[in-house]
Amino acid sequence: MSAPSPSAGRGGFQSRIGFILAAAGSAIGLGNIWRFPYTAGENGGGAFIALYLLCVLALGVPVMLAELAMGRATRKNPVGAYTKLGGRPWAAAGGLGVVTGFGILAFYSVVAGWTLGYLWHAVTGTFARAMDAEASTALFAGLISDPVWAIVLAGAFLGLTMVVVRAGVGGGIEMASKILMPIFFVLLVALAIRSVTLPGAGKGLAFIFEADFSKIRAPVVAAAMGQAMFSLSLGMGAMITYGSYFPRDENLVVAGVSVAFFDTLIALLGGFLVFPALFAAGMEPTAGPGLVFVVMPTIFDNLPMGQLFAVAFYALLAIAALTSTISLLEVVVSYFVDERGWSRSFAVYVVGGACFLLAVPSALSQGGAPALTDFLGTGKGWLDWQSILFGTYSLVAGALLTCILVGWRWGTDAAREAIEEGGHRLPAAPLWGSLVRYVCPLAVVGILIYVVTTGASF
Ligand code: TRP
Repeated sequence: MSAPSPSAGRGGFQSRIGFILAAAGSAIGLGNIWRFPYTAGENGGGAFIALYLLCVLALGVPVMLAELAMGRATRKNPVGAYTKLGGRPWAAAGGLGVVTGFGILAFYSVVAGWTLGYLWHAVTGTFARAMDAEASTALFAGLISDPVWAIVLAGAFLGLTMVVVRAGVGGGIEMASKILMPIFFVLLVALAIRSVTLPGAGKGLAFIFEADFSKIRAPVVAAAMGQAMFSLSLGMGAMITYGSYFPRDENLVVAGVSVAFFDTLIALLGGFLVFPALFAAGMEPTAGPGLVFVVMPTIFDNLPMGQLFAVAFYALLAIAALTSTISLLEVVVSYFVDERGWSRSFAVYVVGGACFLLAVPSALSQGGAPALTDFLGTGKGWLDWQSILFGTYSLVAGALLTCILVGWRWGTDAAREAIEEGGHRLPAAPLWGSLVRYVCPLAVVGILIYVVTTGASF
């Protein structure tokens, strides 16, 4: 698109709604539909979900505003933004974000590849046949344990991501988000209604709403914090990067809070999509990363025009994943473009290619290569480990660094001015300030220390 860019060569968003949809496109993805349900399932259901909501409000929203402010104030990628606001040593905090984005992209594209595989199954009509829990489990196992398929699909997805990011922020990202996100929402509501009304769905609702807080342990809290950061695309500078493209006179608070709101709504929809159908089909909530993939085919089987729903669901899930992988790749690429002077195309090829190499062990870890499936005898696969290390701990650490920089180095007063730029007031500014300065850092440090010192199992 050809509208004037806020800073030469970097491109920018055309409107606030365009920004909200693009940032929501980054936030809404496999994190909501794939990672949220299985993480909630592994961590006890209702209590985890309540804790998750608390983390979104107390940690997610404040950090969201902090990251967006850092980006808009500096107009830079995470490394540049941290350095400009904090000084040279803070470049490392931005660097952690770039590495984390790369690490997330490497396993995320494997799972996104599975959505393409399922899209293929949907188009060719596999789900039109009766699909019970057993048949569905076998279908999933067959797809992910075939090493060639898993690698090809992950590569295809990375390739798609590279094409869009190469085209630049305005044209590719904004347009895809504007049109497709609303359609995705309507479809999710329709499917969740079907799931909730299945015979036997009541147990799933009980699983969501009955919170047994005696099950909460430090690793569960860490998982909830990490999931909140992952789902909102926080803790690695994605929102710093998107903030750097945000118009100066627009309302940052409304934008940030809207993104958090829609993302949380869709995660909850993901829960209503998966758990009722899961219990209706007699499956276990602790199945791990395969959860949503195994559950969904049992719903389509129960729908009129099930095949049509199936095709639409996987197509839109793949697109939701794409708007997320775009933001992951964009962070890493914008670093090399801004700080290292690489051309956008060159950065896309090098980073995308390197990421593909790191995606291969992930793709093989789901049955294709036994050593990676049960990594070092931990009972978890390499993909799970990548998700835990990059998708939980690294993001929580990144959020901590953001709080320290904004709360103590840049200062909440200066940050507040940046948030309010354009004349839009930040409501409850003192509350925001104390969350960023005290509550969030103490909560994060407390949990990290507890998990490390007790060696709590994940
Ligand atoms: N939030 C995305 C999801 O829920 C994943 C994601 C995209 C992400 N960009 C990110 C996570 C940046 C952390 C940081 O699927």
